[in-house]
Amino acid sequence: MKRIITFGTFDVFHIGHLRILQRSRDCGDYLIVGVSSDRMNFNKKDRYPVIPQNQRREIVQSLKCVDEVFFEESLDLKGQYILENKADVLVMGDDWAGRFDEFKNICDVIYLPRTPSVSTTSLIEIIKEI
Ligand code: CTP
Repeated sequence: MKRIITFGTFDVFHIGHLRILQRSRDCGDYLIVGVSSDRMNFNKKDRYPVIPQNQRREIVQSLKCVDEVFFEESLDLKGQYILENKADVLVMGDDWAGRFDEFKNICDVIYLPRTPSVSTTSLIEIIKEI
């Protein structure tokens, strides 16, 4: 039984989010997702996500490809989350390529290509202009 872990904000949920989660699940047998908390996003980007954390978590948890969800409260705790969840593989989109190689001593690290032409940031920009 291969346990996969991945992380993200999943704000304004879009097709790129769905595909990375489906492809992450295809890397193993059980998918655990760390949904970043509102506070963690605020600390990182100086703004809160559009969709509050409980709703983002509920959306991600309801997907067929997702087995378990928790809140990621701090970027500094990734190693701890990987160990606590007994993850065999960390999967991230390739916008993060190389940035999590430090965890290769505790699990496999895979970077999957992003779905082209869609992101939360670009969707927010489009909506602002309507
Ligand atoms: N992702 C993806 N393809 C996209 C957008 C995101 O595969 N087109 C992946 C990211 O690589 C990450 C996960 O989805 O592994 C969650 O990404 P997140 O940062 O929440 O979404 P973005 O759309 O990238 O958000 P932003 O524009 O705010 O950076």
